[in-house]
Amino acid sequence: MSRTNSCSNVSVVGTVNDVRAQVANARRNGHLIGLVPTMGALHAGHLSLMRRAREESGFLVVSVFVNPLQFGAHEDFEAYPRVWDDDLEACREMEVDLVFRPNVTDVYPAGCSTRVDVERMSTLLEGRHRPGHFQGVATVVTKLFNIVQPDVAFFGQKDYQQQLLIRTLCRDLNLPVDIRTCATVREPDGLALSSRNVYLDPAQRGQAAVLSQALRRACDDLRQGLGVSQVRRRLLEQLESTPGLDVDYAVIADPQTLIEHEEPLTEYVVLVAARIGRTRLIDNMIATGPVN
Ligand code: PAJ
Repeated sequence: MSRTNSCSNVSVVGTVNDVRAQVANARRNGHLIGLVPTMGALHAGHLSLMRRAREESGFLVVSVFVNPLQFGAHEDFEAYPRVWDDDLEACREMEVDLVFRPNVTDVYPAGCSTRVDVERMSTLLEGRHRPGHFQGVATVVTKLFNIVQPDVAFFGQKDYQQQLLIRTLCRDLNLPVDIRTCATVREPDGLALSSRNVYLDPAQRGQAAVLSQALRRACDDLRQGLGVSQVRRRLLEQLESTPGLDVDYAVIADPQTLIEHEEPLTEYVVLVAARIGRTRLIDNMIATGPVN
């Protein structure tokens, strides 16, 4: 179980039985099992999760699976970037112990008909704009947790609602997995890293920076004590005045419940989703209320 040579000995498996065998072996050797679920096309955001997971687990599993269940009929499942050689190299560099790279039929054998629904949380915001998306996420994450049986799993704040949904799922179904949420990794101009950023042409890429700029300004406004409705109005104005940007939502909500309140809170999450051409981008930031 020494990792001194782990650069060369990352193991790649595709079947449930193979993952279970390796994880059981690691657990017998006393290792804490960490899991980073991904859809591949690994970028520095994923790597930051893997880095933290490497530090906090004795045996690190990364799953690479583009989950068809979480894509809508008109979304980008087919076009989603698949760069397996680069992903494997990244896993090697991050000293991952085991990569689980199943086929669709390994995860969803014929007749697999059970779905996991997290009521309410899966119908808000992203869920409202992407019907079925969170059922797909909740189902695959439940399956990954049951297959790998990690002690701890790592998710990005970038997908704020997703990590909240998974925390709810673990609580409600008594899944014994500790969930860690890791900070969003950004480009120098503030754009949150995303596998979908490759879809942006140079002009769109320039416009995309407005999402994080608008979020940052909203956080500053809230900290300075501006009212929630005024901050929301300014946020929307800034986004909507950007050519080529179609806003799906821009909300200021309670970070635990995602409920929007008009009265001041000590902490907020500001969440935005917008389309630029055919590319849909999401981002969020946590804001504190005025300190006084
Ligand atoms: P994917 O989009 O590949 O993201 C995998 C993990 O990386 C998620 O937890 C996501 O929040 C995190 N991540 C993405 N961009 C990030 C960034 N810029 N900074 C920090 N973390 C970032 O999210 C999914 O896959 C899927 O829904 C999945 C959970 C794997 C289920 O299929």
